[in-house]
Amino acid sequence: MARTLEEVISEIKNRLDIVEVVSEQVILKKNGGRYWGLCPFHKEKTPSFSVSPQMGIYKCFGCGEGGDALSFIMKTKNMEFMDVIKDLAQKFNIEMPKTSQKSEGTKDLKQQMMQACEKAAIFYHDLLINHKSEEIKTATDYLTDRSISREIIDRFTLGVAPKSYTTLYDLLKKDFSDEVLEKAGLVLPAKEGKGYIDRFRGRIIIPIQNENGEYVAFGARALYKDQSPKYLNSADSLIYNKSRLLYGLYTAKDSIKKEDSVILMEGYFDVISAQAHGVENVVGVCGTALTSDHIKLLSRYTKSRKLYLSFDTDSAGQKATNRGADIIREAFQGLGNIKQFDESYISASEDKYSCEIRVVCPPEGKDPDEYIRTVGADSFKKIVENAPLLIDFQVNNFLKHKKEYKTPQEKMQYIKSFMPVLLEINNEIIRSEYIKMVADALNINEKSLESEIRKMASINSMQQIGNKEYKQIVTKNETILQKAQKNLLSVFLVSDSHFSFTQINEMIDNSYFSDETLINVKSTIDKLICTVNNVKELIEQLYTAYIENPEIQRLLTDLTNIAETFMNLSPEDFQSVIEENIRRIKKCQWEEEKEKMRDLYKNADEDDTEALKIQMQLRDRINNKMKLEKIND
Ligand code: CTP
Ligand code: MN
Repeated sequence: MARTLEEVISEIKNRLDIVEVVSEQVILKKNGGRYWGLCPFHKEKTPSFSVSPQMGIYKCFGCGEGGDALSFIMKTKNMEFMDVIKDLAQKFNIEMPKTSQKSEGTKDLKQQMMQACEKAAIFYHDLLINHKSEEIKTATDYLTDRSISREIIDRFTLGVAPKSYTTLYDLLKKDFSDEVLEKAGLVLPAKEGKGYIDRFRGRIIIPIQNENGEYVAFGARALYKDQSPKYLNSADSLIYNKSRLLYGLYTAKDSIKKEDSVILMEGYFDVISAQAHGVENVVGVCGTALTSDHIKLLSRYTKSRKLYLSFDTDSAGQKATNRGADIIREAFQGLGNIKQFDESYISASEDKYSCEIRVVCPPEGKDPDEYIRTVGADSFKKIVENAPLLIDFQVNNFLKHKKEYKTPQEKMQYIKSFMPVLLEINNEIIRSEYIKMVADALNINEKSLESEIRKMASINSMQQIGNKEYKQIVTKNETILQKAQKNLLSVFLVSDSHFSFTQINEMIDNSYFSDETLINVKSTIDKLICTVNNVKELIEQLYTAYIENPEIQRLLTDLTNIAETFMNLSPEDFQSVIEENIRRIKKCQWEEEKEKMRDLYKNADEDDTEALKIQMQLRDRINNKMKLEKIND
């Protein structure tokens, strides 16, 4: 069914959930009826960015940015309005009206790149399962050696790339242009400058799907001893961004939601083994370090943000664990405490912590893949169940080395390196428990350790104050008149005002507005209130109407902020807000008029009879007005 553009836009708006949209870029924490997070539009360490699902809008009290779901996408992705609409129409499977389908260029290219990747994945997979040759046997043997069954091969569409140079290219060039194949990272220009060769050769192929199950990239493991690198990965492309994509998320997301937790691993085969053996809530980074975008991605699926780090147990893996923990801590900064104490006796409410980081460390130095294959998935699940909190893991690691430090100087240096971890603990009682534990284990005086930590804390906070950039809400010095006019306009945006738009409009005369922008917005409101059903729709429509005008969008945010302060009023109080502001406006307007008249009066030439007449008239008007005002006051 063909629809008009307006219908498509309104359908898209209905389907968009502001919390969901913002969560793609910002980790949000619920507090009352709102969600809070670190503002994506300016740098901050404590959250002043809030989302109101009730109003369908976001705003930042720090920098003043605000808008609805569509403008959020436009701003954060730097996209034009129509491109956002086209993208979303495609996502929601809504047909776009025929006339507005131009500038399909990049979309089409992306689509073709994904189709090419899918074709390639199917080709490599088919080669592995349906064909016979020396090298295919090498691949099959390799996988069998790793206990990868036929079922697992099918489930993860594993395949093999032949050693030959152009097998894939020869097949795909029939359907795709060289540009598409090269951009998708499937082929490379040949060295001699002529033609193309396959990028992946003589390797096990691990196709990578995005969150929606589309094939966007590949990991390819070496099959032969002399091959380097061990893993050849697709480079980032129009359809693949490794710092935002997690291997296995498409197949794991239901389980992550169900378990309300996610296990992060390092290797493709770690994820494959885990998921194949029934540990389903597992994802992996694709040959890159963990990023805050990965964490944002995961935060959308686990409500209580329980994150398990299951990296290798060797020293590289340990480093990755610590780095990963830092990334997670940073991503959750300002959103509340990270769980630091196992308090099984207190019922833990979901909202209590911003997140929970645990470390999965199987004994015997095995990586998750090896452990699951040799010891078993059940045993791995037990290790996950009993995984220590990050803080306990770190304390444990720290104390493991205690015997290496004997002299007081050595001990002090050693402890200094660990004090930041203890400092991270916000709760005083819990912190002192850990201090006691560390002091006991190292056989040092608890009180001195405590006072050293205090010292460090005060140095840190001094530095923080020194670095703090003072960012305040960008409000220009508003005159009383401007403020009163804004107040008056914002009453249209109060969601529970007891009055209909028409009733409000009757109370508010257009002549009260003298600011050009406010007049502009008021006239748009006049038009919109004939068609919208409620305040939420009015706000949405306003943001859309001014989608190309960030300054007015800021003003709208300002108005919705003010409107919120007028919520929960009785009809009488609401009416008196309106009257109060009208009175203020009239008074200011009259003051201005008086000023003008006085100027005229002063400049009038006393000898001129005509001027004298004006003078008298002005005097009368001023006097009359003054009397009226007295009565009103
Ligand atoms: N990796 C990579 N490039 C490399 C080596 C590793 O991208 N040259 C990435 C891969 O995603 C790999 C992960 O890092 O899965 C973990 O590396 P490593 O521990 O070396 O590999 P394993 O998963 O143990 O690989 P395998 O079991 O196949 O030896
Ligand atoms: Mn391994």
